[in-house]
Amino acid sequence: MPRVERMPEPHIYAAYGVYLLQSQHRLMRQLRRIYEPSVHGHKTWESSFLLMDYLLEHPIRRGTRVMEIGCGWGPASVFCARRFDAKVTGVDIDKDVFPFLNVIAALNDVSIEPLVSRFEDLSTARLAKERVLIGSDICFWTKLVKPLYNLIQRAMRAGVKRVIIADPGRPTFYDLADKCRAKYHVELLEWYAVEPNRASGEILEIRPK
Ligand SMILES: C[S@@+](CC[C@H](N)C(=O)[O-])C[C@H]1O[C@@H](n2cnc3c(N)ncnc32)[C@H](O)[C@@H]1O
Repeated sequence: MPRVERMPEPHIYAAYGVYLLQSQHRLMRQLRRIYEPSVHGHKTWESSFLLMDYLLEHPIRRGTRVMEIGCGWGPASVFCARRFDAKVTGVDIDKDVFPFLNVIAALNDVSIEPLVSRFEDLSTARLAKERVLIGSDICFWTKLVKPLYNLIQRAMRAGVKRVIIADPGRPTFYDLADKCRAKYHVELLEWYAVEPNRASGEILEIRPK
Protein backbone atom coordinates (compact mmCIF):
# COMPACT_ATOMS: atom_id res chain seq x y z
CA MET A 1 0.00 0.00 0.00
CA PRO A 2 1.26 3.53 -0.69
CA ARG A 3 2.85 5.66 2.02
CA VAL A 4 0.63 8.44 3.43
CA GLU A 5 1.78 11.76 2.01
CA ARG A 6 0.63 15.08 3.48
CA MET A 7 -0.40 17.57 0.80
CA PRO A 8 0.56 21.23 1.11
CA GLU A 9 -2.97 22.52 0.53
CA PRO A 10 -6.53 21.26 0.04
CA HIS A 11 -7.71 19.56 -3.17
CA ILE A 12 -4.29 18.22 -4.21
CA TYR A 13 -3.90 14.47 -4.23
CA ALA A 14 -1.47 11.87 -5.51
CA ALA A 15 -2.04 8.66 -7.48
CA TYR A 16 0.52 6.37 -9.09
CA GLY A 17 3.32 8.85 -8.49
CA VAL A 18 1.64 11.88 -10.04
CA TYR A 19 0.11 14.90 -8.33
CA LEU A 20 -3.38 15.83 -9.41
CA LEU A 21 -5.85 18.60 -8.63
CA GLN A 22 -9.51 18.26 -7.87
CA SER A 23 -11.86 20.55 -9.75
CA GLN A 24 -12.42 22.51 -6.52
CA HIS A 25 -8.73 23.43 -6.32
CA ARG A 26 -8.24 27.22 -6.45
CA LEU A 27 -6.19 27.07 -9.68
CA MET A 28 -8.78 24.95 -11.46
CA ARG A 29 -11.58 27.21 -10.21
CA GLN A 30 -9.73 30.23 -11.59
CA LEU A 31 -9.17 28.54 -14.96
CA ARG A 32 -12.87 27.68 -15.15
CA ARG A 33 -13.68 31.40 -15.15
CA ILE A 34 -11.98 31.66 -18.53
CA TYR A 35 -12.05 28.17 -20.07
CA GLU A 36 -15.07 25.89 -20.26
CA PRO A 37 -14.39 22.31 -21.43
CA SER A 38 -17.60 21.20 -23.07
CA VAL A 39 -17.20 17.51 -24.07
CA HIS A 40 -16.78 16.05 -20.56
CA GLY A 41 -13.18 17.23 -20.21
CA HIS A 42 -13.89 19.06 -16.94
CA LYS A 43 -12.14 16.74 -14.44
CA THR A 44 -9.87 13.70 -14.10
CA TRP A 45 -11.93 10.59 -14.89
CA GLU A 46 -11.48 7.41 -12.87
CA SER A 47 -10.58 5.25 -15.88
CA SER A 48 -7.28 7.09 -16.14
CA PHE A 49 -6.22 5.38 -12.89
CA LEU A 50 -7.01 1.97 -14.40
CA LEU A 51 -4.76 2.86 -17.30
CA MET A 52 -1.93 3.90 -14.94
CA ASP A 53 -2.23 0.68 -12.98
CA TYR A 54 -2.30 -1.42 -16.15
CA LEU A 55 0.77 0.35 -17.52
CA LEU A 56 2.67 -0.42 -14.34
CA GLU A 57 1.98 -4.11 -14.97
CA HIS A 58 2.49 -3.88 -18.74
CA PRO A 59 4.97 -1.02 -19.08
CA ILE A 60 6.06 0.93 -22.09
CA ARG A 61 9.74 1.40 -22.93
CA ARG A 62 11.49 4.48 -21.51
CA GLY A 63 11.40 7.42 -23.88
CA THR A 64 8.65 5.91 -26.07
CA ARG A 65 6.47 8.22 -28.15
CA VAL A 66 2.93 8.10 -26.80
CA MET A 67 -0.24 9.83 -27.97
CA GLU A 68 -3.16 10.17 -25.60
CA ILE A 69 -6.41 10.53 -27.51
CA GLY A 70 -9.23 12.43 -25.78
CA CYS A 71 -6.75 13.49 -23.12
CA GLY A 72 -8.88 15.99 -21.20
CA TRP A 73 -6.75 17.11 -18.24
CA GLY A 74 -4.19 14.52 -19.30
CA PRO A 75 -3.63 12.50 -16.10
CA ALA A 76 -2.50 9.43 -18.07
CA SER A 77 -0.26 11.56 -20.31
CA VAL A 78 1.43 13.07 -17.28
CA PHE A 79 1.82 9.61 -15.75
CA CYS A 80 3.55 8.28 -18.89
CA ALA A 81 5.86 11.29 -19.06
CA ARG A 82 6.80 11.00 -15.37
CA ARG A 83 7.02 7.26 -15.02
CA PHE A 84 8.46 6.25 -18.39
CA ASP A 85 9.99 9.51 -19.55
CA ALA A 86 7.66 9.14 -22.54
CA LYS A 87 7.40 11.84 -25.20
CA VAL A 88 3.69 12.45 -25.02
CA THR A 89 1.25 14.27 -27.26
CA GLY A 90 -2.16 14.96 -25.75
CA VAL A 91 -4.96 15.14 -28.31
CA ASP A 92 -8.39 16.58 -27.64
CA ILE A 93 -11.20 18.01 -29.73
CA ASP A 94 -11.73 20.68 -27.08
CA LYS A 95 -9.04 23.35 -26.92
CA ASP A 96 -10.32 24.45 -23.50
CA VAL A 97 -8.95 21.32 -21.78
CA PHE A 98 -5.33 22.28 -22.42
CA PRO A 99 -4.92 25.04 -19.79
CA PHE A 100 -5.98 22.46 -17.18
CA LEU A 101 -3.60 19.86 -18.63
CA ASN A 102 -0.75 22.40 -18.57
CA VAL A 103 -1.27 23.04 -14.85
CA ILE A 104 -1.22 19.31 -14.05
CA ALA A 105 1.88 18.84 -16.24
CA ALA A 106 3.68 21.76 -14.55
CA LEU A 107 2.78 20.42 -11.12
CA ASN A 108 4.56 17.20 -12.09
CA ASP A 109 7.46 18.90 -13.83
CA VAL A 110 6.78 17.38 -17.26
CA SER A 111 5.60 18.81 -20.52
CA ILE A 112 2.99 17.39 -22.86
CA GLU A 113 2.68 18.42 -26.50
CA PRO A 114 -0.86 19.70 -27.08
CA LEU A 115 -2.78 18.88 -30.25
CA VAL A 116 -6.32 20.11 -30.85
CA SER A 117 -7.88 17.53 -33.14
CA ARG A 118 -10.88 15.28 -33.55
CA PHE A 119 -10.24 11.51 -33.65
CA GLU A 120 -11.42 11.65 -37.25
CA ASP A 121 -8.73 14.12 -38.27
CA LEU A 122 -5.65 12.25 -37.02
CA SER A 123 -4.07 11.13 -40.27
CA THR A 124 -2.11 7.92 -40.86
CA ALA A 125 0.99 10.07 -41.48
CA ARG A 126 0.60 11.81 -38.11
CA LEU A 127 -0.09 8.53 -36.29
CA ALA A 128 3.03 7.00 -37.83
CA LYS A 129 5.11 9.17 -35.50
CA GLU A 130 3.74 7.34 -32.43
CA ARG A 131 4.53 3.93 -30.96
CA VAL A 132 1.72 3.71 -28.40
CA LEU A 133 -1.78 5.20 -28.31
CA ILE A 134 -3.63 5.47 -25.02
CA GLY A 135 -7.08 6.72 -24.02
CA SER A 136 -9.32 6.67 -20.97
CA ASP A 137 -13.08 7.03 -20.99
CA ILE A 138 -13.22 8.16 -24.59
CA CYS A 139 -15.89 5.85 -26.03
CA PHE A 140 -18.94 7.17 -24.20
CA TRP A 141 -21.33 7.91 -27.08
CA THR A 142 -22.56 5.59 -29.85
CA LYS A 143 -21.39 8.12 -32.39
CA LEU A 144 -17.80 7.77 -31.11
CA VAL A 145 -17.49 4.03 -31.86
CA LYS A 146 -16.97 4.35 -35.60
CA PRO A 147 -14.48 7.25 -35.52
CA LEU A 148 -12.48 5.44 -32.84
CA TYR A 149 -12.50 2.17 -34.79
CA ASN A 150 -11.39 3.99 -37.93
CA LEU A 151 -8.67 5.74 -35.92
CA ILE A 152 -7.44 2.38 -34.59
CA GLN A 153 -7.33 1.01 -38.15
CA ARG A 154 -5.27 4.00 -39.30
CA ALA A 155 -2.99 3.60 -36.28
CA MET A 156 -2.38 -0.09 -37.08
CA ARG A 157 -1.69 0.78 -40.72
CA ALA A 158 0.71 3.49 -39.51
CA GLY A 159 2.74 0.99 -37.48
CA VAL A 160 1.52 1.86 -33.96
CA LYS A 161 2.41 -1.15 -31.77
CA ARG A 162 -0.12 -0.85 -28.94
CA VAL A 163 -3.48 0.89 -28.50
CA ILE A 164 -4.66 0.80 -24.89
CA ILE A 165 -8.03 2.13 -23.81
CA ALA A 166 -9.49 2.12 -20.29
CA ASP A 167 -13.20 2.41 -19.64
CA PRO A 168 -15.72 1.99 -16.81
CA GLY A 169 -17.47 -0.62 -19.00
CA ARG A 170 -19.92 1.25 -21.19
CA PRO A 171 -21.84 -0.67 -23.92
CA THR A 172 -20.24 1.57 -26.56
CA PHE A 173 -16.77 0.53 -25.36
CA TYR A 174 -17.68 -3.17 -25.68
CA ASP A 175 -18.97 -2.45 -29.22
CA LEU A 176 -15.58 -0.99 -30.04
CA ALA A 177 -13.80 -4.04 -28.57
CA ASP A 178 -15.98 -6.40 -30.67
CA LYS A 179 -15.23 -4.51 -33.86
CA CYS A 180 -11.48 -4.66 -33.20
CA ARG A 181 -11.52 -8.36 -32.34
CA ALA A 182 -12.40 -9.31 -35.90
CA LYS A 183 -9.22 -7.79 -37.28
CA TYR A 184 -6.58 -7.43 -34.56
CA HIS A 185 -5.07 -9.14 -31.56
CA VAL A 186 -7.35 -7.96 -28.74
CA GLU A 187 -7.22 -8.35 -24.98
CA LEU A 188 -10.18 -7.20 -22.93
CA LEU A 189 -9.43 -7.39 -19.23
CA GLU A 190 -11.31 -6.48 -16.10
CA TRP A 191 -8.97 -4.28 -14.12
CA TYR A 192 -8.91 -2.28 -10.94
CA ALA A 193 -6.94 0.63 -9.57
CA VAL A 194 -6.03 1.14 -5.93
CA GLU A 195 -5.02 4.81 -6.02
CA PRO A 196 -6.33 7.35 -5.14
CA ASN A 197 -9.28 5.05 -4.29
CA ARG A 198 -10.30 1.61 -5.42
CA ALA A 199 -11.96 1.80 -8.85
CA SER A 200 -12.76 -0.93 -11.33
CA GLY A 201 -13.45 -1.15 -15.04
CA GLU A 202 -12.00 -2.56 -18.23
CA ILE A 203 -8.82 -2.38 -20.23
CA LEU A 204 -8.78 -2.97 -23.98
CA GLU A 205 -5.38 -3.57 -25.55
CA ILE A 206 -5.19 -3.85 -29.33
CA ARG A 207 -2.10 -4.99 -31.20
CA PRO A 208 -1.50 -5.94 -34.82
CA LYS A 209 -2.03 -9.65 -35.61
C1 LIG B 1 -14.72 11.64 -20.41
S1 LIG B 1 -13.45 12.74 -20.91
C2 LIG B 1 -11.98 11.81 -20.45
C3 LIG B 1 -10.79 12.70 -20.29
C4 LIG B 1 -9.49 11.99 -19.84
N1 LIG B 1 -9.11 10.98 -20.80
C5 LIG B 1 -9.62 11.39 -18.46
O1 LIG B 1 -9.70 10.15 -18.35
O2 LIG B 1 -9.65 12.14 -17.49
C6 LIG B 1 -13.47 12.52 -22.70
C7 LIG B 1 -12.51 13.46 -23.46
O3 LIG B 1 -12.56 13.10 -24.85
C8 LIG B 1 -12.60 14.30 -25.63
N2 LIG B 1 -13.27 13.98 -26.90
C9 LIG B 1 -14.58 13.68 -27.09
N3 LIG B 1 -14.85 13.46 -28.39
C10 LIG B 1 -13.66 13.62 -29.05
C11 LIG B 1 -13.30 13.52 -30.45
N4 LIG B 1 -14.19 13.22 -31.40
N5 LIG B 1 -12.00 13.76 -30.76
C12 LIG B 1 -11.08 14.07 -29.80
N6 LIG B 1 -11.38 14.18 -28.48
C13 LIG B 1 -12.66 13.95 -28.11
C14 LIG B 1 -13.38 15.28 -24.74
O4 LIG B 1 -13.15 16.63 -25.08
C15 LIG B 1 -12.88 14.92 -23.35
O5 LIG B 1 -11.76 15.68 -22.96
